Amino acid sequence: MLVCQGRAAADGRLAPGRFADPTAMTLLDPADREPVRRVRDEAPPGAWKERVDYETVRASAELIVPRTVAIDDAVRAHPAPQLVILGAGLDGRAWRMPELAGTAVFEVDRPGTQREKRERAAALEGPPPVYVPVDFGRDRLREALPAAGHRPGTPTTWVWEGVVAYLTEAQVRSTLADVADRSAPGSRLIVNYQVPAVSTGLGRAVARLMAASTGRRSVWAREPWRSTWTPASMAALLTGHGFTVAADEDHLTAARALGTPTRHARSLRHGRVAVADR
Ligand SMILES: C[S@@+](CC[C@H](N)C(=O)[O-])C[C@H]1O[C@@H](n2cnc3c(N)ncnc32)[C@H](O)[C@@H]1O
Repeated sequence: MLVCQGRAAADGRLAPGRFADPTAMTLLDPADREPVRRVRDEAPPGAWKERVDYETVRASAELIVPRTVAIDDAVRAHPAPQLVILGAGLDGRAWRMPELAGTAVFEVDRPGTQREKRERAAALEGPPPVYVPVDFGRDRLREALPAAGHRPGTPTTWVWEGVVAYLTEAQVRSTLADVADRSAPGSRLIVNYQVPAVSTGLGRAVARLMAASTGRRSVWAREPWRSTWTPASMAALLTGHGFTVAADEDHLTAARALGTPTRHARSLRHGRVAVADR
């Protein structure tokens, strides 16, 4: 929800011409649109609770744009007949990217998340993706994807955005093993991950304290980071599964190239997007 709020707040404001997500506002619950409107209007509220929401959404917008643009660019640069979005959440790519017309799009996420997504996405124009209910901690992609019609002999672009940090190392490895098994030559894996950093952990702790000061739980309270990877360990993981790393860039470098705000430089520096090909 928070990353979707960030995209809705950034749409048409940050990196215009390079970033756009007109689906994000529609995919939000009406109650979650208010802080987005305030950020879009650049109208910080006076009351503390609303101000915390405002700052959280504003930061999310600044953190999400470089990552989204890096992933969109990598998807566009390597058209494939199939796109699988792992941990899709409220991702609007299936509807918002004209380049995906003619591509079979599969969205993988937990069943409960997908139920809400389906309801909200009913208001969006265009064909919906194929929803593939999977909990990476319990279910195997190798069983769920064939049942959904994914073809392992046809190249696939995989997007794994904002998910790896929430999985254990074992879950990351077993998911990647299934991805590799179903990646025909010509496939591409785009993976966003977090590097180990004390300061980013502290940032999340501060955000939790800020939320607690408003009498609410932080959105991250039930979502601890479970695995972080250095560029070298991520490269070893990808190479070990038969992929060749074509690029791996941190979000701060991407933000500077786009000219988007770098107020949260430490968080930007510790998030990366790797692109790996088969
Ligand atoms: C921070 S959100 C990112 C959503 C989307 N990829 C994006 O960037 O907008 C993390 C997503 O990963 C999904 N996720 C986390 N752990 C998961 C698991 N064990 N199995 C399936 N999905 C999971 C969540 O349901 C959520 O949709």
